[in-house]
Amino acid sequence: MNQKSTVIVTGGNGFIGTNLVRLLLESGQYHVINLDALTYAANPLSLEDLDGHPDYEFVKGSITDRQLIDSLFEKYKPMGVLNLAAESHVDRSILSADDFVQTNVVGTYTMLEAARMYWNTLPEELKQQFRFLHVSTDEVFGSLGEDGFFTEETPYKPQNPYSASKAASDHFVRAFNHTYGFPTIITNCSNNYGPYQFPEKMIPLMILNALSGKSLPVYGDGSNVRDWIYVEDHCKAVKLAFETGKPGEVYAVGASNEQKNINLVTQICSILDDIAPPIEVPQLRDRGLKSYAELINFVQDRLGHDHRYAIDASKVQRELGWKPEVGFETGLRKTIEWYLSNPRWVDQASGGSYSEWIEKNYAWRAKKEAE
Ligand code: NAD
Ligand code: TYD
Repeated sequence: MNQKSTVIVTGGNGFIGTNLVRLLLESGQYHVINLDALTYAANPLSLEDLDGHPDYEFVKGSITDRQLIDSLFEKYKPMGVLNLAAESHVDRSILSADDFVQTNVVGTYTMLEAARMYWNTLPEELKQQFRFLHVSTDEVFGSLGEDGFFTEETPYKPQNPYSASKAASDHFVRAFNHTYGFPTIITNCSNNYGPYQFPEKMIPLMILNALSGKSLPVYGDGSNVRDWIYVEDHCKAVKLAFETGKPGEVYAVGASNEQKNINLVTQICSILDDIAPPIEVPQLRDRGLKSYAELINFVQDRLGHDHRYAIDASKVQRELGWKPEVGFETGLRKTIEWYLSNPRWVDQASGGSYSEWIEKNYAWRAKKEAE
């Protein structure tokens, strides 16, 4: 039997991290060390079934903690890092970007520098095998008009504090490759959806608001466009890029699935009408709702709201042989069914500090909703 490769995954308790850790373990190829600070965005229930798994270890800690990271390299001697830990919500970054600078910029730099120092100590053969894969976003490229696509060649033009912090982290990763020959790979992916996504993001927010009879806050006129990819397809691209991507390369990942926000919310409502009609939901029975679409509410726009994102993924398809496997209608249904079947996870994610945060920070949205 081949020996398993030890890898450090950062942010493994988040949305994409949870799906990626599962994919890596299911492949049987990896021993996974998950370094996660367990911020508000991490749900302890997401990976609880992996407790005691022989190929999985959890370390609670921050990617800004150099001493801790050095000790992990020393102890586990990994053959690579998959760096996902980040502050990831644009609305939060608009309210305050402090944590975004700390984790996304300082944290990524700290991971890079610790990994580079460790890599320097490796014998040539292991040095050749080592990879630092950085998971990034298409938002670093700014916003598109009605036409065109982002590619690996698109100039960086981040326009909100989140994307600015991700762009800064990408630049450090690129610079480490260029300056030191450190073997990095970057993936810039479009918007993900699927199981385990924290309910502040658009798709779970709309599903869960609808099911509890709350309004569905569509920003602006709902004409903004996002290019949605099922999270498992993204994770497969990340795994493939880590295993077969060329050091120094960048891969744009997306599923060619552009959706206007308002159309997407309407689709969520119609799937929900089909599988959980309001009349059959105990807390909605007396509301007289015929369709969840009646809950749609256009609210004040996000500041600096990027108009359109869309990815041309031909490089990753051509060079790595990746392609998305899950169609949007299927993926959206699977996602909605997952949220319906996991009330314990949903309660854990939606309660406590998150509900307090919503009340305190989304006043701008509520105000407009009330008008
Ligand atoms: P998420 O917010 O769901 O999860 C982030 C995880 O990182 C959480 O488990 C959190 O506890 C952890 N974390 C935060 N700060 C940390 C720190 N200082 N040290 C260690 N752990 C820390 O995010 P996500 O949606 O899973 O995104 C994962 C990565 O993918 C991010 O880098 C994000 O920029 C990128 N990305 C996300 C999308 C998307 O649509 N969600 C698209 C493209 C790229
Ligand atoms: P989001 O899930 O926050 O991802 P991102 O900002 O990284 O693209 O938002 C997706 C789109 O949905 C974006 O155009 C903003 C919009 N949106 C709403 O209209 N209402 C909401 O309540 C949220 C959270 C987002």
